[in-house]
Amino acid sequence: KVVPVILSGGSGSRLWPVSRGSYPKQFWPLLNDHTLIQETALRGSACGSADPIIVCNADHRFIIAEQLREAGIKNPKIVLEPVGRNSAPAIAAAAFLVAQEDPDAILWVMAADAAITDLKSLQDSLQNAVLVAQSGWIATFGMKPTKPETGYGYIEAGSPIQNIPQAYEVARFIEKPSLDIAQELIQSDKYFWNSGMFLAKAKVFLSEIRSYEPEIYTTIKQSVQHCRVDMDFIRLDEESFQKSPNISVDYAIAERTKLAAVIPGDFGWSDIGSWDSLWDLSPKDPQGNVVYGEHIFLDRTKNCYVRSDGIVTAVTGVDDLIVVVTSDAVMISHRDNAQDIKHVVARLSAAG
Ligand code: GDD
Ligand code: MG
Repeated sequence: KVVPVILSGGSGSRLWPVSRGSYPKQFWPLLNDHTLIQETALRGSACGSADPIIVCNADHRFIIAEQLREAGIKNPKIVLEPVGRNSAPAIAAAAFLVAQEDPDAILWVMAADAAITDLKSLQDSLQNAVLVAQSGWIATFGMKPTKPETGYGYIEAGSPIQNIPQAYEVARFIEKPSLDIAQELIQSDKYFWNSGMFLAKAKVFLSEIRSYEPEIYTTIKQSVQHCRVDMDFIRLDEESFQKSPNISVDYAIAERTKLAAVIPGDFGWSDIGSWDSLWDLSPKDPQGNVVYGEHIFLDRTKNCYVRSDGIVTAVTGVDDLIVVVTSDAVMISHRDNAQDIKHVVARLSAAG
């Protein structure tokens, strides 16, 4: 049994002003008519997996329930965190809940903010990943790097795993290297980007968390034991949950475990991190512009991303800009600076 575990905790500040703390990027249709979290859940059902578990911020429970219902996702288990403690505790909570019923069930951990265009190829890679996970490994997917991105994890592929096609032991996992190191790593074809998806048996996740982050293991175990069912939601116990260390699965487990395996994949994966990545992924007009929304007028404009939620927007005589207009905020940036929006947002939130 393969249980999709969708992590929905980030705030997506680089996609401001569309993405907000109260309504982050995974709840917006950014690439097509489905929102990112709907796409993610549908990917799970398209691969024939069990009903999904969604681990999320308690404030987002109704948005998620409604969006999943609208996408036709049956019986999602929506698990609510009282506070955010990053992805390792979120995965631990899902693993404890699944292990109560079946410790050998495989968790397919997915981020809620990725795009995958080649479903058929994903299904093939997933089949190998399931075989790898059944033999006790933690399977990751290796994406071919195209630039020295410092926002991703890097995976060095080691020896092939016996009897399973296209699977390698992970020799080294490096989360978010410095630019110097990233530049070095992409020179070698042994290195891949981590897609942010992980597959392992519930009991394997739990024993690795117990070895490397015993405090997460104890606090989250208690939090699950004392969880309470509220309507259709599972509320994790706050007192124990908030005592958990705050750390991502990449630093907590992936960098340390000896059980990681990698399946190189080519399924059109991309991380929807910034407006520039959306420009990259979206269809463009002959001048290289991406236009999303009505009442947008462009003149002598090239290679821009222009989005408006209905306010008349005119852009003239500029190249390589991002222009995003919502009813209460406007954001303009050079495409090369799209990553820096998060600093502006941090200053805005500090200013209240
Ligand atoms: N439930 C829950 N609670 N989910 C969380 C929390 C939390 O406190 N914090 C983060 N998440 C979710 C995010 O919503 C996202 O879906 C996923 O966990 C990954 O977190 P990010 O914050 O987006 O991680 P990242 O993008 O910096 O890095 C990860 O993804 C890269 C690929 O996009 C790592 O796994 C990298 O190694 C990887 O390359
Ligand atoms: Mg991310």
